[in-house]
Amino acid sequence: MNLNTGLASALVASAMTILPAFGQEIDIGAQLYGDYCSACHGATGLGDGDMANVVSIQSPNLTLLAKNNDGVFPMLKVLHTIDGRTGVRAHGGVMPLWGRVFSDEVGDSAGPYGSVLEVRGRLLSLATYIESIQQ
Ligand code: HEC
Repeated sequence: MNLNTGLASALVASAMTILPAFGQEIDIGAQLYGDYCSACHGATGLGDGDMANVVSIQSPNLTLLAKNNDGVFPMLKVLHTIDGRTGVRAHGGVMPLWGRVFSDEVGDSAGPYGSVLEVRGRLLSLATYIESIQQ
């Protein structure tokens, strides 16, 4: 298998896991959210998790992102903010860089392409879940 067919089949595989399973993806996002995010952002995203008072900066309410952006959910910004490796948070912050955390966790367990896709899948599932809890 050459590089191009490898990449193409990895993309097809990821499209097959992501596209037809929109509802399921929200469930995955909800589960990831509970595991990694609710401690600070709260069980329902209101910014009232148990750790919210421990960190120096208030954890934002994640249900108001669309409302605060003229009614449009800022999907791309949210993805980059969660990932954290892509520059929008260059000046740091208290929230972990989740792209790096997930990448370290997944390691090479799914092969080089599979691992990249798994990390992107987690980030997208989280962003889609956050979109689903907008007020
Ligand atoms: C240790 C506490 C903590 C945890 C855990 C945490 N966050 Fe955050 N989050 C913050 C803080 C504080 C901010 C404000 C920006 C900053 O300082 O990094 C923030 C900002 C954000 C923003 C930007 C909100 C806006 O107003 O634009 C998003 C989106 C977000 N977090 C999503 C997540 C997701 C998804 C997870 C789980 C994978 C998560 N956070 C886990 C503390 C946390």
